[in-house]
Amino acid sequence: AIIPVVLCGGSGTRLWPRSRKACPKPFLPLVGDTTLFQATVLRCPAQAGFGAPIVVTGAAHLDHVEAQLPDPAHSRVIVEPEGKNTAAAIALAALRLPEDAVMLVCPSDHHIGDVAAFQAAAHEAAALARQGWLVSFGIAATAPETGFGYLRRGEAIPGSSGFAVAQFVEKPDLQRAMSFLADGGYAWNGGIFAFRAGTFLAELAEHRPALAEAVRAAVAGGREEGTRFHPNAAAFALIAGESVDYAVMENTARAAMVPAAMAWSDIGNWQALRDALEHDTDGNSVRGPAELVDCTNVLVDSDGPRVSVIGVQNLIVVVDKGEVLVCTADGAQKVGKLTGAVNQ
Ligand code: GDD
Ligand code: MG
Repeated sequence: AIIPVVLCGGSGTRLWPRSRKACPKPFLPLVGDTTLFQATVLRCPAQAGFGAPIVVTGAAHLDHVEAQLPDPAHSRVIVEPEGKNTAAAIALAALRLPEDAVMLVCPSDHHIGDVAAFQAAAHEAAALARQGWLVSFGIAATAPETGFGYLRRGEAIPGSSGFAVAQFVEKPDLQRAMSFLADGGYAWNGGIFAFRAGTFLAELAEHRPALAEAVRAAVAGGREEGTRFHPNAAAFALIAGESVDYAVMENTARAAMVPAAMAWSDIGNWQALRDALEHDTDGNSVRGPAELVDCTNVLVDSDGPRVSVIGVQNLIVVVDKGEVLVCTADGAQKVGKLTGAVNQ
């Protein structure tokens, strides 16, 4: 079985005021009734070939994780004393698994519209992982996003739908992102990875030996508590935090990718969330009490007060616990810089 490793680091200031420090993006029911975290776990059920999930999360989010886990008795949670970014989080899970276990690393802040396509891609990726590849899910790039990693397609891998990755570039500047898009030979890194635990640890040890050793020490000195595992806090504090993209994926010679057309969105801001939601025939999406007259492409999300809007287009209105956000689709990018979002 493929072992889902769900990463829950929190944050998400660009979805303020819904997303707050106390309850960040993964733990909110942003699309439909399940939270992004729950949807991530539910996408990997036993009947589709997945094993018991491992959730790696910060102590600050443990309550949310345990309250929202669909099947807590059948899940394991690794509790980070502090955030040390994704290379360390993934290494923690890898060290708690047999070397030949195939892990599927799943960020908990994405929306995936086509779950069957996701599961098919997961099995394609797992097959390559068993051959020793570190596999990314490649998403068709549609804009010069600078917040994503880019995968340059290399040789097709015989007997699979995958490709070797000729180059992995994490978060390029705008000019490079534009040249990648124009080139056409690049996909976005979806942030979902498959590899054998042992392959990942070997690559981490090769490219970031100190980081690999520090996580190993934190696990060796850790303690189990039921289905929870607590790495040793003093050892964990010594880890240099770095993302898996910079630490491993940019450096490994074993990177591969499987193209995944699965209606993926990282829900990075209100506009991306609006796109992922269901709309009426005028393109409006409404949650909570609202009255819209002569509006198109308007999103209203209110936790109580009625919102009445007349005659506007492409507007986002969010009301949450006494805070009101009104912004245009373009303005959605800047929400994280608002005083309210910074001082939440
Ligand atoms: N447990 C744990 N601990 N999880 C973490 C930590 C940590 O210290 N830091 C981040 N995470 C989780 C986040 O909650 C998220 O679910 C996932 O790991 C990815 O982290 P982000 O901080 O959201 O990364 P990103 O969006 O900037 O970039 C990554 O994702 C993009 C796609 O959304 C990269 O992999 C990019 O290459 C990729 O394109
Ligand atoms: Mg992200």
